[in-house]
Amino acid sequence: MNRFKGKVALVTGSSQGIGAACALRLAKEGCDVILNGHKFDERGEKLIKEIEAIGQKATFLVADLSQAYEASHLIEKAVKQYGKLDILVNNAGVEKRADFWEVTEDDYDLVMDTNLKGVFFSIQSFVKHCRKNSVGGVVINMSSVHEEIVFPHFAAYCASKGGLKMLTRNLATELAPFNIRINNVAPGAVSTPINKDLLNNKEQLERVTQNIPMRRMGTVEDVAGVVAFLASDDAAYVTGSTYFVDGGLTYHYEEQ
Ligand SMILES: NC(=O)c1ccc[n+]([C@@H]2O[C@H](COP(=O)([O-])OP(=O)(O)OC[C@H]3O[C@@H](n4cnc5c(N)ncnc54)[C@H](O)[C@@H]3O)[C@@H](O)[C@H]2O)c1
Repeated sequence: MNRFKGKVALVTGSSQGIGAACALRLAKEGCDVILNGHKFDERGEKLIKEIEAIGQKATFLVADLSQAYEASHLIEKAVKQYGKLDILVNNAGVEKRADFWEVTEDDYDLVMDTNLKGVFFSIQSFVKHCRKNSVGGVVINMSSVHEEIVFPHFAAYCASKGGLKMLTRNLATELAPFNIRINNVAPGAVSTPINKDLLNNKEQLERVTQNIPMRRMGTVEDVAGVVAFLASDDAAYVTGSTYFVDGGLTYHYEEQ
């Protein structure tokens, strides 16, 4: 498949985990990719080499997306890099575990600023680019099953992903006249470094997978496949939706 021939994508938070898999999957289908993270290190270097080996271009742009200015500016830098930007995957995200009554303002700000505020302003900057150049575009936000279902001890995370749900619903209507599509992908439990505590705790991992109808954690490739679909023209009539990639977790119910 060569669904992204001639296209350029920016994938935020793509040094590792879901973001890295999305970048690789888009490149495998013909896309040039701009990678991003807090810092450029050996993970970014390795991914660039993998993408170049496929025959696509790749660059890494450092930006802290918890800062609205850096989020906006990243889009401008990305456009400058390859002269265009067709696909924006807002993947970078953080979570902080704490009882609700122990959550600090710093942790609340970090989660909301990274998962919602930075995403808001990166989309705004992308839309300005699309409108200025009279081109359409595609935005995919990495949400979570927790835009819909509860996650005790992660109140700020749930608030951020719940906000992302309504941001996407709202912008789908406002941006459709400009041929800009926007959708959320909502992973369930995926094996990535964000879940390292869970992955290192065999008993807890067993409880989690028992609650998933497909009885396994998701892989980063499971998520990347859906991102590629939504980024492609195969999803040309899809906007304002959330695609759950959760092995059936969100709407799981069984009589005990
Ligand atoms: N892994 C899961 O089970 C799961 C489930 C649901 C949703 N998600 C979402 O998927 C996305 C990716 O998660 P992951 O599991 O790959 O996590 P991860 O921790 O492996 O990767 C997140 C990436 O985002 C980057 N990042 C974080 N804050 C940043 C900032 N301020 N500026 C730039 N980069 C930043 C990190 O450096 C890292 O590379 C997140 O939005 C997360 O909320 C993950």
